Amino acid sequence: MIVTVGDVAAGGHCVARVDGEVYFVRHALPGEQVRIQITDRKKRFAFADAVEILEPSPDRVEPPCPWAGPGRCGGCDFQHATPEAQRRLKSKVLFDQLTRIGGIDPARLEGVEVEALPWPEGALGWRTRMQYAVDETGRPGLREHKSHDLVHIDWCRIATERIREADVLTQDWDGMGAVGVVDADDEQLAVYTQLRRTARPHHKNGPKLVHQTVGDTRFEIGFDAFWQVHPAAAPTFLATALEFLQPREGESAWDLYAGAGLFASGLAAAVGESGRVVAVENAPASRTAANLAAFKNAGAIEGDVAAITPDLGSVDLVVLDPPRSGAGPEVVVALGEARPRAICYVACDAGALARDASDLAIEGYEPTRIRAFDAFPMTQHFETIVLFEPVD
Ligand SMILES: C[S@@+](CC[C@H](N)C(=O)[O-])C[C@H]1O[C@@H](n2cnc3c(N)ncnc32)[C@H](O)[C@@H]1O
Repeated sequence: MIVTVGDVAAGGHCVARVDGEVYFVRHALPGEQVRIQITDRKKRFAFADAVEILEPSPDRVEPPCPWAGPGRCGGCDFQHATPEAQRRLKSKVLFDQLTRIGGIDPARLEGVEVEALPWPEGALGWRTRMQYAVDETGRPGLREHKSHDLVHIDWCRIATERIREADVLTQDWDGMGAVGVVDADDEQLAVYTQLRRTARPHHKNGPKLVHQTVGDTRFEIGFDAFWQVHPAAAPTFLATALEFLQPREGESAWDLYAGAGLFASGLAAAVGESGRVVAVENAPASRTAANLAAFKNAGAIEGDVAAITPDLGSVDLVVLDPPRSGAGPEVVVALGEARPRAICYVACDAGALARDASDLAIEGYEPTRIRAFDAFPMTQHFETIVLFEPVD
């Protein structure tokens, strides 16, 4: 079927409508005329791939990765668009999610555009963590989009040079379900494996504890702990959060979903000795307390944010950096009760951010500053940082 492609939608698709039917088309760009092939039919819509481009968009480029495209590696969504066009697509998704789901006034999003992060290789060579799936013969690869089938790539174009040069992809990983590589500040890469039917990583070789430095702080974390995968992300997000929150001497602050304590460390330095910072994180591999030990005014609580936050009392400032599912209503209600003067929400999923934003509005908080960053070039993903302040 030949269709004219409409706007981008969340999930790395563009929408095409034909005779009242809706198609979510991958590998296409708005305005293009393309031939599509249905990949999955649902009751009220269908997913499709653009398999032939009849009228290309001026934003279209030859994908820099030979493994990208319909029926090939599913890791990247936008290899066929210029990096500038990718950021425009993501800005449109952000606008739609925050206005339609979040109920945010469109005027608040005026001029908000997904910004590039500084990186010498541009949209390539940035990914410091890679996990490959392993097939029954022990060969690693990356999965096709929404499939268990593997594509046996030579090397991933968005991974860092050090990961590209590691010979993980040429080795036999017989019996394993996955193999992963971590490119931190350490001399050696950390390599881990996962057995089939478990998500638990086993350290294989390289350092068990890896290091990441931001400003003057050197974080030591487990090889399997969370860390932002783009090298420029952590310092940029920290600087943005501090610029948004404007912490004052003597204030109290929470770093919720703290990981290694990236934001807690910046807040601890900013609020001074008379201030107090509490970080909450549930993964022991993050070593949050150990990383904050140098800050006399900061401490960590290991556990679930939703369970712990209601007992923490009141606070001046909050950084909220939840996983892809968002913080959820329980946490938002606890924040409403704690009544901070400012909440900095760091979001890797615009839909979850939008849902939490609409709950924050009920608690009397509105977004007053918004920035977004292309922390995952070539993919549909991006990071959004929003400052929420009490309505009056
Ligand atoms: C997006 S990461 C942010 C980490 C950190 N703020 C950073 O920038 O490096 C989310 C973190 O929340 C943690 N986490 C996930 N669910 C949690 C929960 N229910 N309670 C506490 N921590 C949680 C994860 O282990 C992860 O470290």
